[in-house]
Amino acid sequence: MYLFVTDQDGKVHELEALEGWRAMEVIRDWELNIKAECGGACACATCHVFVDAEWVDKLAPITAEEEAMLDMAVDAQDNSRLSCQILMSDALDGLKLTLAPSAAK
Ligand code: FES
Repeated sequence: MYLFVTDQDGKVHELEALEGWRAMEVIRDWELNIKAECGGACACATCHVFVDAEWVDKLAPITAEEEAMLDMAVDAQDNSRLSCQILMSDALDGLKLTLAPSAAK
């Protein structure tokens, strides 16, 4: 399955992903510019991504913890999510995300 990620420079990357991996782990392993400081514990907001409009409703609903973390991101928008809280599955094959400026290292 694949994940399409637009980096902070506007370049689109097609990343091969594995079922059960967090989107953040895929992005990090392909060495794009993501800080992901807390390692996926929903405790930092430096894995912040914007979700392409057509995919927003296909993701699992946002939890209160994730929402609280996103409140701390300076550039949060309605389509913001933490990429460490997105679990890859067949249903998300082709998911399109954009790295937020605040996710940069
Ligand atoms: S890596 Fe820290 S909240 Fe996602």
